Amino acid sequence: MLKYAKHCSLGIISLAACLLAVGMFTACAGENSPILPNEIIPVDVPSLSPEVSPVESAAPTPASLRYENVPSAAANYGALVLVNYLSKYEHTEDALSMTAHIGDNKSKNLLLTGSDLRLMPDTIHALNEFADGFFEATGGDRLLATSAFRTLEYQQQVYVQYVKERGEEMAKLYVADPGCSEHHTGYAVDLSTICADGARVPLIDHERFDWVNANCAAYGFILRYPVGSEGITRVAYEPWHFRYVGREHAALITELDMLYEEYVEHLRVYTADTEVLYAAYNADGGVDVKPVKIADAERGGFIVYYVKAESGDTTNIPLPDECLEYSVSGDNAGGFIITVKL
Ligand code: DAL
Ligand code: ZN
Repeated sequence: MLKYAKHCSLGIISLAACLLAVGMFTACAGENSPILPNEIIPVDVPSLSPEVSPVESAAPTPASLRYENVPSAAANYGALVLVNYLSKYEHTEDALSMTAHIGDNKSKNLLLTGSDLRLMPDTIHALNEFADGFFEATGGDRLLATSAFRTLEYQQQVYVQYVKERGEEMAKLYVADPGCSEHHTGYAVDLSTICADGARVPLIDHERFDWVNANCAAYGFILRYPVGSEGITRVAYEPWHFRYVGREHAALITELDMLYEEYVEHLRVYTADTEVLYAAYNADGGVDVKPVKIADAERGGFIVYYVKAESGDTTNIPLPDECLEYSVSGDNAGGFIITVKL
């Protein structure tokens, strides 16, 4: 995954662009390599936890918290934003500036319907690995990306075209209103397949769909609109639309068997001062999940928790005091989702 510091080290990227990058994993570097310039300003706040004497242990645990300040407005940015008919995405222009052409850095096993398809860099990286995995598992079939980042105008065109081809009723089922599409974020991609013999077969008809559906989480993707989700998502079953959320969240969502709407809602009860959601990868490639106190989280897994955005300009984000890799992403619903690798 791309490191946040890489994005902002140039010092020429706009505030909005950096805010978008808040959602990416950040190496919690030592004092010599400051992180999160401009956005997450380390503040000198003493730990609120009581002093804990170091205990000899094979699996040391994060014992206390430190705090970092983020702009409260960043709650609408990041890799984990929830975008749907109720939660518009307001930062499509910023996303455009953060996305890259997939074709500029593409696996030979990933095919594209056009040279202008764009995604966030971490999503491109994961999609390349997904396509390589598909190619290997199927003995030569390739993933075909048919749609990726969309501007508001393009989403409107998609809607108009859909109405022309299939009528308004179908368009309402399959095309989000401009502003309400995950495609505005650069973290969503529509996939089809090209078989080893060259035939193009949509995933909806493809016998390989089971592999794609079963393995997408290992590459950080979720099937965003599965069968039966329409009541919540207001989008019909789309076996082609995948959303990148990163490997940790894809594993958790799969284990919890939740829609993204349900997952974002579910996370709200996990906070640094109560219990966080702890997950450890198991031998099956999934995760074992349990709520724990942050100080009891063992090394080797990761924790996820929620921080409500404060009404003022900045929000204090509690983090384990130790030097760990973490990410902060807005949920586009008034809060932040924190992910810490232990
Ligand atoms: N097809 C999905 C719902 C979109 O238009 O974003
Ligand atoms: Zn889509």
